[in-house]
Amino acid sequence: MAVATVENPLRTGMRLERTPAPCAMVIFGASGDLTRRKLMPALYHLAQERLLPPGFSVVGFSRTDMSDQQFRDAMRQAVTEFGGEQPPQGAAWAHFAEGLSYISAHPGHSEEYRKLAEALERSDRQRGTGGNRLFYLAVPPSSIEPIVNNLQQSGLAHTSAGWARIIVEKPFGHDLESARELNESISRVFREDQIYRIDHYLGKETVQNLLVFRFANGIFEPVWNRRYVESIQVTAAETVGVENRAGYFEEAGELRDMIQNHLLQVLALTAMEPPAVIGADQVRLEKVKLLRALRPLDEGALRTCAVRGQYGPGWVEGKKVPAYRQEPDVDPNSATETYAAVKLFIENWRWAGVPVYLRAGKRLARHVTEVAIQFKQAPLLLFHDQPTEAMRPNLLLVRIQPDEGISLRFTAKLPGPAIQTRSVHMDFRYASFGVPSASAYERLLLDCMLGDPTLFAHRDGVEAAWAFITPILQYWAAEPPADFPNYAAGSWGPEEADKLMAGGCAPWRRP
Ligand SMILES: NC(=O)c1ccc[n+]([C@@H]2O[C@H](COP(=O)([O-])OP(=O)(O)OC[C@H]3O[C@@H](n4cnc5c(N)ncnc54)[C@H](OP(=O)(O)O)[C@@H]3O)[C@@H](O)[C@H]2O)c1
Repeated sequence: MAVATVENPLRTGMRLERTPAPCAMVIFGASGDLTRRKLMPALYHLAQERLLPPGFSVVGFSRTDMSDQQFRDAMRQAVTEFGGEQPPQGAAWAHFAEGLSYISAHPGHSEEYRKLAEALERSDRQRGTGGNRLFYLAVPPSSIEPIVNNLQQSGLAHTSAGWARIIVEKPFGHDLESARELNESISRVFREDQIYRIDHYLGKETVQNLLVFRFANGIFEPVWNRRYVESIQVTAAETVGVENRAGYFEEAGELRDMIQNHLLQVLALTAMEPPAVIGADQVRLEKVKLLRALRPLDEGALRTCAVRGQYGPGWVEGKKVPAYRQEPDVDPNSATETYAAVKLFIENWRWAGVPVYLRAGKRLARHVTEVAIQFKQAPLLLFHDQPTEAMRPNLLLVRIQPDEGISLRFTAKLPGPAIQTRSVHMDFRYASFGVPSASAYERLLLDCMLGDPTLFAHRDGVEAAWAFITPILQYWAAEPPADFPNYAAGSWGPEEADKLMAGGCAPWRRP
């Protein structure tokens, strides 16, 4: 589908009115993987696009011993490695690097926070950051509470001069109880409007486009309900295995790692009611209402509507790959699932009776994240002598990654004297706008600096998602899997997942 090339508003002056006020960002865990891989490249790109405020400063804070200069060198290396098409160099890098400094300290030791307070005061004085602070917790979950408490004790959590905000990474708890406890401990120090729970899926362009697609077009909303929709499938399939994250993943598993957060958030945006306005409170309220409407899985449903899997050896993209249990740092008898699929129902007037299927897995046949809205078959099959394959019901596909876009499947007549039909696709590709999408971290960091939490998870939403997922986790923990590994790497997951589609529903898509 042809689309006029446009300027990327995130990257041009169209958003200049939204340039954040001067601020300093403190990264706890500045020596870590997330800082190198995501945060620093995102910040450097924002600086290149002149979207950061003047005097923007970063204070790295972690235990690893480094001088300011060593930190700058490490960050330059990180941006070179992970920053894509804009290698850091010359005056542009020198200007950005002037704002980087580093404190080597234990985040659990309260006395170290005096150094941090001094560094922030210096930044206010010398770089004009105006008392505004953004604390990014790029640390393991066990470090969150001590950091939050130390920020309070040191007086840094609240500032009379400007604002203080905190970004908390996933995993946000490991079940409902721990998520509540974590919410409680952060809320003892920070108000909800200061807390930004990041889910980088919500920063992806195509996920945000779900809101625009649904609510800026008049023709889809009338059919976006149980009268016209047969089923919904949300898929997040990866071809990679556990990579170097075995330590974390062995504890987490796929259901916690992907479905509890990313897929349920995407589902919430797909299925929620239209908000009165596109504002943080209204959008998050509608998402919470949707998540609270998920029908809890009872004992029978826990047995039949949640499927787990673990990959054995196989072939992925032409390469032979080992089983999960043979990966480095994985228990050779591991019961951790690398695939999870759930069939659920949303108990509200819009969606009652429409099955929703969520699945996420590693070492699957293709790397793809998508939302598939399967519409009901046309009520009268006038062309019933056509082969079923040629008369497939309409399907609306929102491709989140890769090859971001939207396509609509419909039936068309083949040219010729006889009535012969074929399924065809009307396709919109995001790439046709002709501008590269900003990374999710760029968008979310900028939104946080601007004080816009629309794309961050609310406390109630996180707890509602855990309330749905936790019974599955408990059931699985009580019933260890007897058949792992139960799918070959490079396949589309365990056969048992196909049984979820009983009752005439469209089978799992094989994109
Ligand atoms: N990496 C990713 O792509 C990614 C993606 C999504 C979410 N996350 C989340 O982001 C957070 C950070 O991830 P990461 O991959 O950067 O982790 P990481 O590299 O394992 O750790 C980050 C930093 O935390 C510090 N740290 C580690 N253990 C600590 C402890 N016990 N006490 C205090 N500090 C400790 C370390 O710095 P020092 O040893 O120098 O203190 C380390 O450099 C995690 O919650 C993770 O789940 C990461």
